[in-house]
Amino acid sequence: MQKIILTGDRPTGRLHLGHYVGSLKARVELQDSKEFDEIYIMIADAQALTDNFANPSKVRDNVMEVALDYLAVGIDPQKVTIFVQSEVSELTELTYYYMNLVTLSRLMRNPTVKSEVTLRGFEKSIPVGFLNYPISQSADITAFDATCVPVGVDQLPMIEQAREIVHSFNNIYGDTLVMPEAKVPENALAQRLPGTDGKAKMSKSLGNCIYLADDAETIKKKVMSMYTDPLHIKVSDPGHIEGNVVFTYLDVFATDADFKKFLPEYNNLKELKDHYRRGGLGDIVIKRFLNDILQELLQPIRERREAIAADITRVYQILESGTSKARGKAQATLKRVKEAMKINYFESDEFLKEVIAKYQEK
Ligand code: TRP
Repeated sequence: MQKIILTGDRPTGRLHLGHYVGSLKARVELQDSKEFDEIYIMIADAQALTDNFANPSKVRDNVMEVALDYLAVGIDPQKVTIFVQSEVSELTELTYYYMNLVTLSRLMRNPTVKSEVTLRGFEKSIPVGFLNYPISQSADITAFDATCVPVGVDQLPMIEQAREIVHSFNNIYGDTLVMPEAKVPENALAQRLPGTDGKAKMSKSLGNCIYLADDAETIKKKVMSMYTDPLHIKVSDPGHIEGNVVFTYLDVFATDADFKKFLPEYNNLKELKDHYRRGGLGDIVIKRFLNDILQELLQPIRERREAIAADITRVYQILESGTSKARGKAQATLKRVKEAMKINYFESDEFLKEVIAKYQEK
């Protein structure tokens, strides 16, 4: 069986450091692993509209931003098909048929949907399109025969939903859809990078993100104003590591080589943490260190982004040709699905033969 990846992002803002450690970095590694026969990365504009339906410009404006972020981190359009979801209408058609296989109560139980409903203030009345998006996401996944879906842990209920749909579709209509599996980041710390303010998650709506496209000055400002330890007032005070965002980031990003390069007074993160706990280590030192590390990581990404943006027509063409290739794949799956569901009346003369046999038998 072929090994195929499908994953994607909603284009509701530029991608940030949380996306980078949580998924983008792994995608580049997967792309270069040569383990996969096909890789699709989808800009999920139709899904973004399920909770931004009244704000279509926001979605439209971010399609290209997300594409630029992909290319900037090193996703290679020679190896990966990047496409725009709404332009593959087969996905909507698949969604419609899958809707028969899912109950309302099952959708309402989806923990990701539940928390998003609260977050969006949809408690009183949930738009059907929004509630339905796990089914649409199942269509995204199955349309490409995806065996592997790299996602953050918050997306696991979506993959579970897709697996249930595959199971029940294949049960009813015969073996048609490929069973997908989720792939979450191995590094548990990277699964949920907190925001610069210490809030649980880096999220554009909370304004606590470091964006891949941020300039050096902005990154520095954000790092220097990061949440640390409110009890660590004087340098000599003992400090806390837990809940201290600078240390959470250092846990994710700092390597021993970074110490050699930027902070040779310490050999590793443990020594730095011990000193901070004892007291006598100021926030400025740890913030400067983190800033050095992040600048080194983000500078080449930012520069590549600028270089790629200088020829934006080419990016447009990458999206257009990727979308056309994706459409071909989704069409083949839809054909299989409709055959299995016996709704392929005009594809061959089979249906005609059936009705002739029925009406001319007398
Ligand atoms: N729901 C995903 C997110 O919010 C985006 C997405 C849409 C997706 N369709 C997908 C991810 C299919 C993986 C597979 O980030």
